[in-house]
Amino acid sequence: MIVAKTIDQIRNIVSQWKSDGLKVGFVPTMGFFHEGHLSLMKESLKRSDRTVVSIFVNPTQFGPKEDFSTYPRDLDRDLNLAKEVGVHGVFIPDVKEMYPSQNKTWVNVEDLTNHLCGASRPGHFKGVATVVAKLFNIVQPDLAIFGEKDFQQLQVIRRMTADLNFPIEIVGAPIFREPDGLAMSSRNTYLSREERKSAICLFKALQLAKRLVAENKVTTASQLQRALADFIESFPFTQIDYIFVGDPELLEPVNEIRLPLLVALAVFVGKTRLIDNILIR
Ligand code: PAF
Repeated sequence: MIVAKTIDQIRNIVSQWKSDGLKVGFVPTMGFFHEGHLSLMKESLKRSDRTVVSIFVNPTQFGPKEDFSTYPRDLDRDLNLAKEVGVHGVFIPDVKEMYPSQNKTWVNVEDLTNHLCGASRPGHFKGVATVVAKLFNIVQPDLAIFGEKDFQQLQVIRRMTADLNFPIEIVGAPIFREPDGLAMSSRNTYLSREERKSAICLFKALQLAKRLVAENKVTTASQLQRALADFIESFPFTQIDYIFVGDPELLEPVNEIRLPLLVALAVFVGKTRLIDNILIR
């Protein structure tokens, strides 16, 4: 497995592969791998001849009061895991390599970022879209894989890729879950034992949403939001950031329940902010 720290290094490697006629898959990450990340890498390995993974904790997507400095990092472990899975190249730039001077050019995806995490984390998607556009320009893959846990991120990247004419296929990969249903996330490591028990409320609330919709027990988004809020608040340490009920393409809230329906949650469990979602068809 090749480990590249500079833009020139990874560009040279990928251009060699491409001139050999090989298809290149790409998995952008912020590291601290769990099974979810590994499943994205395996998907890329299945769909392409060479897989590049980037590990970069991107400062521009964190708000001033967010966890950039404490975000979990373990590069040696990540490199070993990537190698075991069969990844061909890892790109591990430092902040100076990615942002040599203060950035003056930003990628802003409009409308799709008005609600959900776009509303509760102002500037977050500007940082995400900008770094992913930079990574796409640097790595120049044929396809890139993103997890569906960050449903809004996936839609934003799909739109950015289309609007900026990147010749890259965007692939969404299903949410990877712990045996009890908790969506895998590097931030799960922040949870205490007691908080971990409460964290299951997100998955359970989404199952409840699916049942309530299937059985026609709710007809409006506000009825569904009320039922989910009551359920989540019955778990200790929880504080709801948002309960989104809306259109999965436009990422706009709806008033009346209609399918397909995206139900997406952001909930603080203790100090840890967790997200999860379900697409009800
Ligand atoms: O999902 C993530 O880990 C990050 O938002 C991404 C896509 C790697 C951009 O920094």
